[in-house]
Amino acid sequence: MRKPFIAGNWKMNMDCAGAKALAAGLAEQLKSVDTVDVAVCPPSVYLQAVATELSSSNVALGSQNVYFEGNGAFTGELSCAMLKDVCCTYAIIGHSERRHVIGETDELINKKVTAAITGGLLPILCVGELLEEREAEKTTEVVTQQIKKGLAGVTAEKMLAVTIAYEPVWAIGTGKTATADQAQEVHAMIRALLAEMYDQTTADQVRIQYGGSAKPGNTAELMANPDVDGLLVGGAALKVEDFAAMIKTVA
Ligand code: PGA
Repeated sequence: MRKPFIAGNWKMNMDCAGAKALAAGLAEQLKSVDTVDVAVCPPSVYLQAVATELSSSNVALGSQNVYFEGNGAFTGELSCAMLKDVCCTYAIIGHSERRHVIGETDELINKKVTAAITGGLLPILCVGELLEEREAEKTTEVVTQQIKKGLAGVTAEKMLAVTIAYEPVWAIGTGKTATADQAQEVHAMIRALLAEMYDQTTADQVRIQYGGSAKPGNTAELMANPDVDGLLVGGAALKVEDFAAMIKTVA
């Protein structure tokens, strides 16, 4: 049985006071939730402040990025050890905004995934097609490449540390959610691919989140799919009521 996993990606939003208030509100609202794994991924400058608010809560902390080197002359980057030092459990890696706005490649993403696992962080590897790729019926091809390249060298045992987030780029921040059928179709394809790359037992254990305009109103429908094991939530994760409502729906 895969335990549902809902993560909030705050992206480049909030100030320190807002981040602390959101974290404190979630800690309070989710006190009695233990059937869903929950994490929030604030901007890195607020990780420490949010960690304080979440200490002794059910809500785990994640970063929105990580660098693959251990330390040294890498201006602006953060290592696994630094993120663990401020209480991160998870690291989002290869988010579409980092792929398409910042220009991260599958090769770089693979180095980050590998470093995160070795460094004791649990990667959330994001994959997903652009609108033009979907329209050209290239979704399977694009997502397959992203997964194969992103997970190069990751053994079956290490794969158990990884969560995959399927986020169709055309659904992110657009209010245009994939239909439950569209999500299930790609999630099932991803699981079959993992079974082919690893084995069925491993594939059955890996959690696959959906992301892209997930909100309280579509949570139940998305989560009713057999291969949708959780959600990676952007906009709706910025409000205590919305994010807590989504988690309570799943719990
Ligand atoms: P959204 O973002 O929920 O605002 O569409 C999801 C994501 O980018 O992870």
